[in-house]
Amino acid sequence: MKVVITAGPTREFIDPVRFLSNPSTGRMGFEVAAEAARRGCESVLVAGPVTLKTPKGVRRIDVTSAREMLAAVKREIAAGGDIFIATAAVADWRPARTAAKKLKKSEMTGVLELKRNPDILKTVKDCRKIGFAAETGDPTREAARKCREKRLEFIVANDVTRAGAGFGTATNLVSFVFPDGTVRKFPLMTKRRVAAEIFKAIGVKCNG
Ligand code: PMT
Repeated sequence: MKVVITAGPTREFIDPVRFLSNPSTGRMGFEVAAEAARRGCESVLVAGPVTLKTPKGVRRIDVTSAREMLAAVKREIAAGGDIFIATAAVADWRPARTAAKKLKKSEMTGVLELKRNPDILKTVKDCRKIGFAAETGDPTREAARKCREKRLEFIVANDVTRAGAGFGTATNLVSFVFPDGTVRKFPLMTKRRVAAEIFKAIGVKCNG
């Protein structure tokens, strides 16, 4: 059983010294990749720029931008990927142009033209797909919509405004939201435990 996981943020460069990004540290995704390996799966971790150590038994591919992340995921799924678990906080937009040299303040207008990035989870086909949703407020409504739109088995919704949940924390407060709107709520758990619950819900025995 081959599991492909995305983790961390992406960076979308404006010029060589400036980029658009977000606070994801990769902790959630690295725990999912570690859990896949512990269960005997082939675990491939496509990681944005983060400072974490690669978990034991995990093959890691480092990327920077959303388009690099998409290319790596597509390649790994085409090469026998069975399950795609997308924990990454992918930048939805990138600058329309990346300057080759550092922009001088006098060259900046205060307006940045943006271009839509590809949606990796929506684009990838021919595998089982599980997504994550970081929301501010009740995460379940928006999550159910994303779940249907991206054709997911379920989505792991987390309210990133809650203490101990979301970006950079050791714990997370999640609900699994299914396409029919069913919601399974969990108490605050370590990210390692969240990863284990995901594999339980997938119901796949990984034995190499
Ligand atoms: O890395 P940590 O510090 O541990 O933080 C973990 C986390 C908060 C980043 C993680 O738990 C989480 O919630 N990840 C999803 C972040 C998010 O905001 O997702 P989204 O609502 O923008 O996207 C929904 C889903 O589509 C996600 O599975 C995302 O990976 C995927 N997506 C989104 C946009 C895009 N262009 N391509 C994608 O694949």
